[in-house]
Amino acid sequence: MKVLVLNGPNLATLGRREPEIYGSATLAELEALLGDRAKTMGIEVQCLQSNHEGGLIDAIENAAASVDAIVINPGALSHYSLALADALRGSGKPVIEVHISNVFARQPERHRMVTAAAAKGVISGLGFDGYLAALAYLSGRSPNA
Ligand code: DQA
Repeated sequence: MKVLVLNGPNLATLGRREPEIYGSATLAELEALLGDRAKTMGIEVQCLQSNHEGGLIDAIENAAASVDAIVINPGALSHYSLALADALRGSGKPVIEVHISNVFARQPERHRMVTAAAAKGVISGLGFDGYLAALAYLSGRSPNA
């Protein structure tokens, strides 16, 4: 199984960006963790970060033929990007949306989840464990898969 792991705007600065909310680990550390743990689950991950809506949409379009599923943290695009939601829906792949923080415990404008409507499930507030839980689900290791 091959999974595309996408991180959206401002996630390249993980580790220095509001560490009290997002923690002190970097994007490189997250991607290394996912690569390592994915192997133990028999999954291959392809990781990509973009600060641009179009970059994420291009990645989804380009990978659609070669991946089995998508894990995405759309960052703030989650709250307003119909274009990204359309691309995720159009991919025809199972999508798990992940947020490091619990967006529902934050400002009301973060409670609106446009891309989440295109996802099979959403994990919010579990830090990096949310990405691992998404991979575990997709690998069939979840008791509910
Ligand atoms: C985030 C939550 C979003 O509201 C925010 O804009 C982000 C990160 C998260 O991972 O918790 O950039 O997606």
